[in-house]
Amino acid sequence: MRAGIKTVYTDERKIRPGKFARAAAAVLCAVLLMLAAAAAYIAFNSVAPAQLINTASAEAAADTAYAETVTKVKAEGYLTLVNWDHEISEERPKDLVTLSEVFGDSVEMTNPEGSVDKTAGTAAKEMFDAAASEGVTGFKITSAYRSVQYQDEMWNKAVAEDPSYGEDPYSSPVKTMPGNKSEHATGLALDILAVDYETADDGYANTAQGKWLLENSYKYGFILRYPEDKENITGVAYEPWHYRYVGKEAAQIIHDAGLCLEEYVEV
Ligand code: DAL
Ligand code: ZN
Repeated sequence: MRAGIKTVYTDERKIRPGKFARAAAAVLCAVLLMLAAAAAYIAFNSVAPAQLINTASAEAAADTAYAETVTKVKAEGYLTLVNWDHEISEERPKDLVTLSEVFGDSVEMTNPEGSVDKTAGTAAKEMFDAAASEGVTGFKITSAYRSVQYQDEMWNKAVAEDPSYGEDPYSSPVKTMPGNKSEHATGLALDILAVDYETADDGYANTAQGKWLLENSYKYGFILRYPEDKENITGVAYEPWHYRYVGKEAAQIIHDAGLCLEEYVEV
């Protein structure tokens, strides 16, 4: 009996530590899991938010810098938006100079006595000189500043030919704007064609001059004002010859981001 009792006792002792060990292991695992969760929580709340804050503040700083650039450039007055929704007054812009005064005989012109904004004209001269230094010559300025009255004559002619002209410009874009909706009245727009390609049509985009302007004009502060893929925003048909001075900073951004002036100004 004693032996039997002892055996039972011994078996019970064998069983008790086994249960205890499993229980202790389970508790240990639970504690380790809790510690791991706590560590992850601390890491997330101390490191990750700091990184998020850094990223957010970098983005905010970039946004602020961008907004400041836009504000500064707008203040220079070269981002004046003239379109179907933004009319221009009949007042003749200040700072107009004659084309011959700016360009001399460095470029062909349909009307050397026409006018252009002095800053825009000076930038265009720099642009044509740069093109010439790269072997591209033969540009011809066919139009620059147009008064509201003169533009109205063009508009009335277009409407006389087609009474529905301009009725729905965002689905049927035009090439001639009404007098007070044409940016030619700012003096900042130039129609630039070529001595051997004077026709204002899509084919100009394939000329050496048209290609050079498309690739390089932004470096001198000009943008292609009416891109092919923005007709539904501008309400004006693709015009590979119509360049608009906006200043170098804005032109660079507009060029790089593939925007039209409406998209840039109304950011
Ligand atoms: N050709 C441009 C759109 C104008 O008439 O102003
Ligand atoms: Zn034009």
